[in-house]
Amino acid sequence: MPDLIAIYPGSFDPLTNGHLDLIERSSKLFDQVVVAILTNLEKQPLFTVKERVEMLESVTASLSCVAVDTFSGLLVDYAVRKHAHVIVRGIRAFSDYEYELQMALMNRKLEPKVETVFLMPGESYAYISSRLVKEIVQHGGSVKDLVPPAVEERLRRKVAAGDVTA
Ligand code: PNS
Repeated sequence: MPDLIAIYPGSFDPLTNGHLDLIERSSKLFDQVVVAILTNLEKQPLFTVKERVEMLESVTASLSCVAVDTFSGLLVDYAVRKHAHVIVRGIRAFSDYEYELQMALMNRKLEPKVETVFLMPGESYAYISSRLVKEIVQHGGSVKDLVPPAVEERLRRKVAAGDVTA
């Protein structure tokens, strides 16, 4: 049987403990997991692509079947280039489902060979989002337990540098 390769795509701006939980769960299900950072975000990201790659690489270093990569353009085209048959997406709450379903069905329409698999994070991560993490940091709150320590440190440095303002 050929290796089962999964792509876990996202903006990861920044990576949270919820993302990490899903990466760990995916690594137990698939032979290879490629965490793929979308480079052409519509919004101005807080972290550069290089910073996001570095953070993801440092927190996934112990997971030998996980690789970190970047992509632009259509996700399904990238998945085909990577010989991946699976896209992994996380569903935290019912509110995620509508958008995720639409995206999964559109991706399937564009490329029927690639299936989307939804995974649920551990319930203690269900309320975490990158958007809320940035908002908390902007207003001086603590994001301990929400993001890996390496990300917390980078966020602290962004605040000190004045890159994150309320
Ligand atoms: O973490 P995010 O921001 O929710 O991830 C969204 C992402 C990167 C998975 C999505 O925006 C995406 O796949 N973008 C690539 C462009 C694409 O393929 N668009 C068509 C989706 S149906």
